Amino acid sequence: MKEIDWSNLSFGYMKTDYNVRIYYRNNAWGELEVSSEETIPLHIAATSLHYGQEAFEGLKAFRGKDGKVRIFRLEENAARLQSTCRGIMMPELSTERFREAALRVVELNKHFVPPYESGASLYLRPLLIGTGAQVGVKPADEYLFLIFVTPVGPYFKGGFAATPYVITRKYDRAAPLGTGTYKVGGNYAASLRASHEAHVGGYSAEFYLDAKEKKYIDECGAANFFGIKDNTYITPLSTSILPSITNKSLMQLAEDLGMKVERRPIAEAELSTFEEAGACGTAAVISPIERIDDPENGHSYVIAKDGKPGATCLKLYNKLRAIQYGDEPDTHGWVTILE
Ligand code: PLP
Ligand code: COI
Repeated sequence: MKEIDWSNLSFGYMKTDYNVRIYYRNNAWGELEVSSEETIPLHIAATSLHYGQEAFEGLKAFRGKDGKVRIFRLEENAARLQSTCRGIMMPELSTERFREAALRVVELNKHFVPPYESGASLYLRPLLIGTGAQVGVKPADEYLFLIFVTPVGPYFKGGFAATPYVITRKYDRAAPLGTGTYKVGGNYAASLRASHEAHVGGYSAEFYLDAKEKKYIDECGAANFFGIKDNTYITPLSTSILPSITNKSLMQLAEDLGMKVERRPIAEAELSTFEEAGACGTAAVISPIERIDDPENGHSYVIAKDGKPGATCLKLYNKLRAIQYGDEPDTHGWVTILE
């Protein structure tokens, strides 16, 4: 195996040894199969290709100081995948089968879990797609679930640093009663142009407002939003954002730290009142927000006045990472340790 420079990993694809696959045929999920292929044979009329019958997930495994490998909140990812399956009429995979696949694929690729000191992790990418042929717009009758893994470093360049974000008014990611709460590829296709324009403009990512009124903060590129003020953690309540497992964890940790937690609509104008703010997600972890520009409206909301991450963001980040790496007790039962 080629030596891996663990300290310089980006958030990208690296070939690992194995992936695992489970096929759904004749109305039932089959046995787990182990593959070393990076490709899948796919029918030219598969519903995933034509009608977006596709769901994915993202979760991470961490190597602790004790050498043990810990997978973070895999049951939550299994449940969200089940919700997505219901949303786009795919058969649900049980939490037990999801767990079996996740544990097996990490075990098979154990030497790709980065060392503790690197601060990197192994990213698990579950995928569930319609493989059966249809020409009419209908759900498939055959499906493939797979998980591949790849070692990753920080999602945003610079890691834990305060960076600028931009509100897009030209594009919506998801409609109020659309697929925004599901992790389907189509939502990400809808975000590509806005994301590209944000990056060209020097921003970390694009922010979406609610599609109906263009008044409330929804979420940013591939992460949820939270703001901090008056010892309160505030995060949007919206029918068009992904229910982030990181955000759910941070709400709990904020409570543990004695903070109040509010989930409610956040009007854009409220941005100017936050003492701190961050983007959060599996890939993003916590990415502190320096400022959010709204160029089409002529506003710039500066949040980190000194350009640095705030003390609460840092506290939450350290707490989350400590649980993920096993440095602090897993009091909420979030971690599955690989035996
Ligand atoms: N929102 C979007 C659109 C995402 O793609 C992600 C990434 O998974 C998140 C939020 C954060 O969710 P989680 O914390 O479960 O990774
Ligand atoms: C994640 O945080 O797991 C994501 O899915 C983000 C992105 C790479 C799509």
